[in-house]
Amino acid sequence: MAHLMIRAETKEDYYFSEYMAKRAFWNLHRPGCDEHYLLHLLRDSEDYIEALSRVAELNGKIVGGIYYSKASVRDGDTSVSVLSFGPLCVDPEYQNIGIGSMLLKTTISAAREMGYKGIIIFGEPGYYPKHGFKTCDLFGITTKEGKNFDAFMGYEIVPNAFSEISGKYYESEVFEQLHADKVEAYDKKFPYMEKLKLPGQWS
Ligand SMILES: CC(C)(COP(=O)(O)OP(=O)(O)OC[C@H]1O[C@@H](n2cnc3c(N)ncnc32)[C@H](O)[C@@H]1OP(=O)(O)O)[C@@H](O)C(=O)NCCC(=O)NCCS
Repeated sequence: MAHLMIRAETKEDYYFSEYMAKRAFWNLHRPGCDEHYLLHLLRDSEDYIEALSRVAELNGKIVGGIYYSKASVRDGDTSVSVLSFGPLCVDPEYQNIGIGSMLLKTTISAAREMGYKGIIIFGEPGYYPKHGFKTCDLFGITTKEGKNFDAFMGYEIVPNAFSEISGKYYESEVFEQLHADKVEAYDKKFPYMEKLKLPGQWS
């Protein structure tokens, strides 16, 4: 009988959750990926929210994870804290059986109980709207460059939470620290996978 558990991550999981992230993102948006290195950096970042991040364990194996961090919406001198997450990922062998949805639902409930008001992400525009996410133009929130697009989405944990907020969204600086040479070196910890240029990649 399959036994799925959504739980906090422990140090013993790090290698396995990073390898799972590598396999989930490899060649998806570009040849290779940097999400396993992102996890490594994020956990040590002051913006990381360990209390909300969760992994999915199926029969003793890490098959998914969601990782939260602090972000903000700024308007002039005013700055309001919001939640963000990323990556959310599921082992390719276990996708489309509800694990991603369960990670999302479990952590949104936990965030609500902890008093958080809203989440803003850059994510798959086909996936998140079915979980109640809306594009940020509807909330009067832009990227820090002043842009809006389908992948830039928000979720009001408390109804109308974003009606009191407007401005530019700033995610943790850790997302800008994924230097190619560092990613390449870190990737050597994991089994080799071939980088491929595939149709549909962003770059
Ligand atoms: C996106 C992801 C986290 C979803 O988790 P999952 O456990 O596979 O998804 P669920 O089983 O909860 O949901 C499945 C549904 O989502 C849809 N879906 C899955 N991935 C999708 C995607 N990338 N874009 C649009 N829809 C997607 C499926 O078609 C399915 O739709 P249905 O319910 O109408 O049949 C997972 O597929 C994944 O890790 N993908 C690679 C990494 C990634 O893109 N992460 C998200 C970055 S923002």
